[in-house]
Amino acid sequence: MKPDPWHDYYARRAREEGYPARSVYKLEEIQKRFGVLKRGGRVLDLGSCPGSWLLFASRVVGDRGLVVGVDITPLTLRLPSNVRFVQHDALAWDEPFLEAVGTNFQTVLSDMAPSTTGSKFVDAQRSLQLSESALAISASVLRPQGAFVCKIFHGSDFKGFSDRVRRSFGRVVHFKPKSSRKASKEIYIVGLGRT
Ligand SMILES: C[S@@+](CC[C@H](N)C(=O)[O-])C[C@H]1O[C@@H](n2cnc3c(N)ncnc32)[C@H](O)[C@@H]1O
Repeated sequence: MKPDPWHDYYARRAREEGYPARSVYKLEEIQKRFGVLKRGGRVLDLGSCPGSWLLFASRVVGDRGLVVGVDITPLTLRLPSNVRFVQHDALAWDEPFLEAVGTNFQTVLSDMAPSTTGSKFVDAQRSLQLSESALAISASVLRPQGAFVCKIFHGSDFKGFSDRVRRSFGRVVHFKPKSSRKASKEIYIVGLGRT
Protein backbone atom coordinates (compact mmCIF):
# COMPACT_ATOMS: atom_id res chain seq x y z
CA MET A 1 0.00 0.00 0.00
CA LYS A 2 1.20 3.55 -0.78
CA PRO A 3 2.43 5.40 2.36
CA ASP A 4 0.15 8.22 3.49
CA PRO A 5 2.29 11.23 4.58
CA TRP A 6 -0.71 12.80 6.37
CA HIS A 7 -1.27 9.68 8.46
CA ASP A 8 2.42 9.27 9.23
CA TYR A 9 3.02 12.89 10.26
CA TYR A 10 0.02 13.35 12.59
CA ALA A 11 0.10 9.79 13.97
CA ARG A 12 3.80 10.16 14.83
CA ARG A 13 3.24 13.58 16.40
CA ALA A 14 0.32 12.25 18.49
CA ARG A 15 2.47 9.35 19.75
CA GLU A 16 5.31 11.70 20.65
CA GLU A 17 2.98 14.11 22.47
CA GLY A 18 1.17 11.36 24.42
CA TYR A 19 -2.22 11.46 22.66
CA PRO A 20 -4.01 8.21 21.77
CA ALA A 21 -5.25 9.52 18.38
CA ARG A 22 -4.20 12.04 15.75
CA SER A 23 -7.71 13.58 15.81
CA VAL A 24 -6.38 15.81 18.61
CA TYR A 25 -4.89 18.15 16.00
CA LYS A 26 -8.33 18.89 14.57
CA LEU A 27 -9.50 20.14 17.98
CA GLU A 28 -6.25 22.05 18.40
CA GLU A 29 -6.93 23.89 15.11
CA ILE A 30 -10.55 24.54 16.09
CA GLN A 31 -9.39 25.90 19.44
CA LYS A 32 -6.77 28.18 17.82
CA ARG A 33 -9.31 29.56 15.39
CA PHE A 34 -12.43 29.85 17.59
CA GLY A 35 -11.32 29.59 21.25
CA VAL A 36 -14.22 27.27 22.11
CA LEU A 37 -12.54 25.90 25.27
CA LYS A 38 -12.10 28.22 28.26
CA ARG A 39 -9.88 27.94 31.32
CA GLY A 40 -12.08 26.79 34.23
CA GLY A 41 -14.87 25.82 31.81
CA ARG A 42 -17.18 22.79 31.68
CA VAL A 43 -16.94 20.71 28.51
CA LEU A 44 -19.07 17.81 27.26
CA ASP A 45 -17.24 15.64 24.71
CA LEU A 46 -19.56 13.28 22.80
CA GLY A 47 -17.83 10.37 21.04
CA SER A 48 -14.75 10.73 23.20
CA CYS A 49 -12.88 7.41 22.69
CA PRO A 50 -9.97 6.74 22.52
CA GLY A 51 -9.59 10.04 24.43
CA SER A 52 -7.38 12.56 22.63
CA TRP A 53 -9.94 15.36 22.80
CA LEU A 54 -10.52 14.56 26.50
CA LEU A 55 -6.82 15.01 27.24
CA PHE A 56 -6.53 18.17 25.16
CA ALA A 57 -9.67 19.75 26.68
CA SER A 58 -8.58 18.71 30.17
CA ARG A 59 -5.29 20.60 29.71
CA VAL A 60 -7.04 23.75 28.43
CA VAL A 61 -9.75 23.93 31.14
CA GLY A 62 -7.26 23.15 33.93
CA ASP A 63 -7.87 21.96 37.50
CA ARG A 64 -10.87 24.20 38.09
CA GLY A 65 -12.62 23.01 34.92
CA LEU A 66 -14.43 19.76 34.14
CA VAL A 67 -14.56 17.58 31.03
CA VAL A 68 -17.24 14.89 30.71
CA GLY A 69 -16.69 12.31 27.98
CA VAL A 70 -19.41 10.09 26.51
CA ASP A 71 -18.94 7.15 24.18
CA ILE A 72 -20.77 3.99 23.25
CA THR A 73 -17.51 2.05 23.66
CA PRO A 74 -15.52 1.71 26.89
CA LEU A 75 -12.63 4.08 27.52
CA THR A 76 -9.32 2.46 28.48
CA LEU A 77 -7.32 5.67 29.02
CA ARG A 78 -6.13 6.71 32.51
CA LEU A 79 -8.08 9.91 33.16
CA PRO A 80 -6.82 13.16 34.68
CA SER A 81 -8.69 14.24 37.84
CA ASN A 82 -10.79 16.84 35.99
CA VAL A 83 -12.26 14.30 33.51
CA ARG A 84 -15.26 11.97 33.98
CA PHE A 85 -16.46 9.34 31.53
CA VAL A 86 -20.00 8.03 30.92
CA GLN A 87 -20.41 5.01 28.66
CA HIS A 88 -23.66 5.50 26.74
CA ASP A 89 -25.21 5.49 23.27
CA ALA A 90 -25.75 9.18 22.46
CA LEU A 91 -28.57 8.23 20.06
CA ALA A 92 -30.50 6.81 23.03
CA TRP A 93 -30.22 9.85 25.28
CA ASP A 94 -32.88 10.40 27.92
CA GLU A 95 -33.38 12.14 31.29
CA PRO A 96 -31.24 9.69 33.36
CA PHE A 97 -28.43 10.15 30.80
CA LEU A 98 -28.68 13.95 31.04
CA GLU A 99 -28.59 13.68 34.83
CA ALA A 100 -25.47 11.49 34.62
CA VAL A 101 -23.58 13.95 32.40
CA GLY A 102 -24.72 17.11 34.20
CA THR A 103 -25.61 20.51 32.83
CA ASN A 104 -24.44 24.11 32.49
CA PHE A 105 -21.66 23.32 29.99
CA GLN A 106 -19.83 26.13 28.21
CA THR A 107 -18.86 23.85 25.36
CA VAL A 108 -20.37 20.77 23.74
CA LEU A 109 -18.07 18.89 21.36
CA SER A 110 -19.12 16.02 19.14
CA ASP A 111 -16.52 14.07 17.18
CA MET A 112 -18.93 11.13 16.92
CA ALA A 113 -18.60 9.06 13.79
CA PRO A 114 -20.51 5.95 12.69
CA SER A 115 -18.70 2.78 11.64
CA THR A 116 -18.37 3.25 7.91
CA THR A 117 -20.19 0.88 5.55
CA GLY A 118 -18.63 1.76 2.20
CA SER A 119 -21.86 3.49 1.10
CA LYS A 120 -21.36 7.27 1.20
CA PHE A 121 -25.13 7.76 1.40
CA VAL A 122 -25.62 5.41 4.38
CA ASP A 123 -22.56 6.80 6.18
CA ALA A 124 -23.75 10.41 5.72
CA GLN A 125 -27.24 9.47 6.99
CA ARG A 126 -25.76 7.84 10.11
CA SER A 127 -23.45 10.76 10.71
CA LEU A 128 -26.44 13.11 10.40
CA GLN A 129 -28.35 11.11 13.05
CA LEU A 130 -25.40 11.40 15.44
CA SER A 131 -25.14 15.13 14.74
CA GLU A 132 -28.88 15.63 15.35
CA SER A 133 -28.51 13.85 18.70
CA ALA A 134 -25.52 16.03 19.62
CA LEU A 135 -27.53 19.16 18.77
CA ALA A 136 -30.55 17.96 20.80
CA ILE A 137 -28.31 17.14 23.79
CA SER A 138 -26.62 20.54 23.54
CA ALA A 139 -30.07 22.20 23.63
CA SER A 140 -30.55 20.65 27.11
CA VAL A 141 -27.10 21.08 28.63
CA LEU A 142 -25.40 24.09 27.02
CA ARG A 143 -25.54 27.42 28.79
CA PRO A 144 -26.38 30.69 26.97
CA GLN A 145 -23.42 32.04 24.94
CA GLY A 146 -21.96 28.51 24.91
CA ALA A 147 -20.19 26.89 21.95
CA PHE A 148 -21.04 23.79 19.92
CA VAL A 149 -18.59 21.89 17.71
CA CYS A 150 -19.95 18.99 15.68
CA LYS A 151 -18.38 16.71 13.11
CA ILE A 152 -20.64 15.68 10.27
CA PHE A 153 -20.06 13.76 7.02
CA HIS A 154 -21.08 15.99 4.15
CA GLY A 155 -24.30 14.56 2.66
CA SER A 156 -27.64 15.58 1.26
CA ASP A 157 -29.05 17.18 4.44
CA PHE A 158 -25.86 18.96 5.44
CA LYS A 159 -27.38 22.37 4.69
CA GLY A 160 -30.59 21.50 6.57
CA PHE A 161 -28.58 20.53 9.64
CA SER A 162 -26.42 23.63 9.43
CA ASP A 163 -29.59 25.77 9.23
CA ARG A 164 -30.94 24.05 12.36
CA VAL A 165 -27.69 24.88 14.21
CA ARG A 166 -27.99 28.47 12.97
CA ARG A 167 -31.38 28.81 14.71
CA SER A 168 -29.73 28.36 18.13
CA PHE A 169 -26.37 30.11 17.70
CA GLY A 170 -25.38 33.69 16.92
CA ARG A 171 -22.61 32.63 14.53
CA VAL A 172 -22.13 29.38 12.61
CA VAL A 173 -18.99 28.46 10.67
CA HIS A 174 -18.14 25.37 8.58
CA PHE A 175 -14.55 24.37 9.24
CA LYS A 176 -12.34 21.76 7.59
CA PRO A 177 -9.13 21.43 9.66
CA LYS A 178 -5.85 21.05 7.75
CA SER A 179 -5.20 17.90 9.78
CA SER A 180 -8.39 16.30 8.37
CA ARG A 181 -7.68 14.18 5.28
CA LYS A 182 -8.69 15.97 2.09
CA ALA A 183 -10.43 12.81 0.87
CA SER A 184 -12.54 12.60 4.05
CA LYS A 185 -16.13 13.86 3.81
CA GLU A 186 -15.98 15.12 7.40
CA ILE A 187 -16.49 18.75 8.20
CA TYR A 188 -16.97 20.54 11.54
CA ILE A 189 -19.88 22.85 12.20
CA VAL A 190 -18.95 25.40 14.84
CA GLY A 191 -21.79 27.24 16.57
CA LEU A 192 -20.81 30.22 18.73
CA GLY A 193 -22.92 32.29 21.11
CA ARG A 194 -25.82 30.02 21.97
CA THR A 195 -28.97 32.14 22.05
C1 LIG B 1 -13.41 9.59 15.59
S1 LIG B 1 -13.79 8.82 17.11
C2 LIG B 1 -13.56 10.14 18.25
C3 LIG B 1 -12.12 10.42 18.53
C4 LIG B 1 -11.94 11.31 19.76
N1 LIG B 1 -12.39 12.67 19.49
C5 LIG B 1 -10.49 11.37 20.18
O1 LIG B 1 -9.85 12.39 19.92
O2 LIG B 1 -9.99 10.43 20.77
C6 LIG B 1 -15.54 8.68 17.03
C7 LIG B 1 -16.17 8.06 18.27
O3 LIG B 1 -17.60 8.17 18.17
C8 LIG B 1 -18.14 7.10 18.93
N2 LIG B 1 -19.56 6.89 18.65
C9 LIG B 1 -20.11 6.44 17.50
N3 LIG B 1 -21.43 6.30 17.65
C10 LIG B 1 -21.74 6.70 18.93
C11 LIG B 1 -22.94 6.78 19.67
N4 LIG B 1 -24.12 6.41 19.14
N5 LIG B 1 -22.90 7.23 20.94
C12 LIG B 1 -21.69 7.58 21.50
N6 LIG B 1 -20.51 7.51 20.84
C13 LIG B 1 -20.53 7.08 19.57
C14 LIG B 1 -17.26 5.93 18.50
O4 LIG B 1 -17.37 4.85 19.42
C15 LIG B 1 -15.86 6.56 18.45
O5 LIG B 1 -15.17 6.34 19.64
